[in-house]
Amino acid sequence: MISVDNLFFSYTHQPFIEGISFDVKAGEIFGFLGPSGAGKSTLQKILTGLISRYDGHVSVDGEEAGNPGKHFYEKIGVDFEFPSLYEKLTGMENLKFFASLYPKSRAPEALLKSVGLNMDADKKVSDYSKGMKSRLNFIKALMHDPNILFLDEPTSGLDPSNARVMKDMILEEKAKGKTIILTTHNMYDATELCDRVAFILDGAIVALDSPRALIMKKGAASLVYTYLENGLEKESTISLTETGSDKTLQRLIAENKVLSIHSSEPTLNDIFVELTGRQLQ
Ligand SMILES: Nc1ncnc2c1ncn2[C@@H]1O[C@H](COP(=O)(O)OP(=O)(O)OP(=O)(O)O)[C@@H](O)[C@H]1O
Ligand SMILES: [Mg+2]
Repeated sequence: MISVDNLFFSYTHQPFIEGISFDVKAGEIFGFLGPSGAGKSTLQKILTGLISRYDGHVSVDGEEAGNPGKHFYEKIGVDFEFPSLYEKLTGMENLKFFASLYPKSRAPEALLKSVGLNMDADKKVSDYSKGMKSRLNFIKALMHDPNILFLDEPTSGLDPSNARVMKDMILEEKAKGKTIILTTHNMYDATELCDRVAFILDGAIVALDSPRALIMKKGAASLVYTYLENGLEKESTISLTETGSDKTLQRLIAENKVLSIHSSEPTLNDIFVELTGRQLQ
């Protein structure tokens, strides 16, 4: 569905993106994960044609993103970091206005209800909170029922229950067969939502795979167990691969003396740090 081939781009005389290539399959949720300033939003802007002066090829559903045909924006939905809404119009009026720009649209009432904005539909957007604007901007991207969604930090600034609703809606869109490009610096969202994740740093892809494969490839999972010895509680950490050979653990299990036992896999942040020496946040 998306194919990026040898992409070069610079904001200034210094090159920023130098020779990135990757493909996104139809129906996939593909994540860009990286710290602030890594280039995630820049990539989204290139993929959606907002930045058109780049070198290389960026094909989105068969069209060159920097020079798209006139129906390009009917096929894609965009929810970027800063909501683009008319403050003097109500939530409903905003949705109806944007729907009027497209040949088809979904029912605004149902979309407003799905993100809990049905009671605020007739309130001016200038009176919306930041999270309400984020939710409205998100459903605005879904209004014309596009096949490809570009979501830049969609859950940032949302409380946990609204973030949950949005993540479930993203998964529903995937279930309908939509292709979704998601930008985040939240490793939990990336792990939960994305089929594949590209680690982005300094305008480059430093790793690309499924979250599971990234986690399994590097760093063994560890196992932590606690037990009593001479009346004192002790803790031991071993690699998961040592569970069969660790004598203390074997003995404690045989004697039913383990107090607690936990395994912990490395997180995407651990892998990111291992690969780049930088934290995600
Ligand atoms: N219009 C611009 N002109 C010049 N430099 C820019 C412009 N927009 C972004 N940059 C620079 O490009 C780099 C990448 O910015 P980008 O917005 O793509 O990062 P990001 O990964 O989305 O970060 P965040 O997580 O903070 O949103 C930064 O160093 C930024 O300062
Ligand atoms: Mg950004």
